[in-house]
Amino acid sequence: MFSPKNIAQFAEIETPFYYYDLELLKKTLEACANEAKAYKYHVHYALKANFNENVLKTIQEFGFGADCVSGAEVEKAIECGFSPNKVVFAGVGKSDKEINKALDLDIFAFNVESVQELEVINELAKAKSKIAQVALRINPNVDAHTHANITTGLDENKFGINSWDLPLCASVLRNSENIKFLGIHFHIGSQITNLEVFKHLCIKVNEFSAWFEERGFTLKVLNVGGGLGIDYMNPNNQIPDFKEYFKIFAEFLNVGPHQEVHFELGRALVGQCASLISRVLYVKLGRKKNFIILDAGMTELMRPALYQAYHQVENLTRIDVEKTVKYDVVGPICESTDSFGKEILLAETQRGDLFAIRSTGAYGEVMASNYNLRPSIVHVYDNEVK
Ligand code: LLP
Repeated sequence: MFSPKNIAQFAEIETPFYYYDLELLKKTLEACANEAKAYKYHVHYALKANFNENVLKTIQEFGFGADCVSGAEVEKAIECGFSPNKVVFAGVGKSDKEINKALDLDIFAFNVESVQELEVINELAKAKSKIAQVALRINPNVDAHTHANITTGLDENKFGINSWDLPLCASVLRNSENIKFLGIHFHIGSQITNLEVFKHLCIKVNEFSAWFEERGFTLKVLNVGGGLGIDYMNPNNQIPDFKEYFKIFAEFLNVGPHQEVHFELGRALVGQCASLISRVLYVKLGRKKNFIILDAGMTELMRPALYQAYHQVENLTRIDVEKTVKYDVVGPICESTDSFGKEILLAETQRGDLFAIRSTGAYGEVMASNYNLRPSIVHVYDNEVK
């Protein structure tokens, strides 16, 4: 488990590095799997949140499926042990090459995001004399009440098929001999903390599923996507409330006896399981501002620069120091948005202190870049350096 004490043993390791708490990951997976089992729900892990191999291998051991958004993610999931018949493939821009690869690997389903994509998948499957299983990703126009940049289910977003295109989809489906229509798919956004939002989603899913059934289609799969948020304000609140989350779907989603409900969770499974560990390069005291300059920056963790996201920042070296000072905590990159937070009250800090930026297991390492020709990132798993 993460604590300033066990981090101290890594004092000799070159910073910055991502510290993974695989024990916490396992506890989180176990909690999710147990709650899902109560309703026979199928959970796919959204690889885009973190495709670190140790993380993936751990997740597949708990029986989760994989939600992928590129051909490379599909291949990686299968390489790391996810069963192809539990792999789903979404994304607005699947290339022919990626579709062919996924057909060759016999994945469970393509989550199709446009009428044109449906036609292309049918053609490519025909050329291989295969049947592609598909679910239609529908844009339900439901507000996720999260940051605008991570909202995906509104009419103005590029994702999914708009409701007005469904009659056309229905006729394409009827005429596509190399497609097996499995069901419908939704994903309305990420870091959703107001669970009421999922109730609104359920109401829309019920409407769309009735629409298809009235037209004679059988829906085996209702895939409601992911989006469950985590508590960034309090990283020690480690395991999301999966029970409350699944309960909403159990209460509000209409599910027939032969239907399966699928989820695609990313952040909620891995978000709290990593911290970015960094060392203080300089402390610059000024008249207007005091700056702590870390050796990690937006190249290692992009979320604050991209979404003004909050990540708790802790000085691990000075846990017993009482004197506090307000600092802006920044990185070394040549961009003004390279900041982890402004006016943060921290123990009086010195050059060489070790810092943790918490809750960085999801959309952290995977969004890193080598801008400014930054070196690649080192990992530490529980007690092992790799
Ligand atoms: N399914 C689909 C189709 C998705 O697009 C996503 C995330 C998920 C599932 C998983 O969502 P989650 O359970 O992790 O919320 N980079 C942003 C988040 C982008 C999310 C993209 N889609 C961030 O750092 O907040």
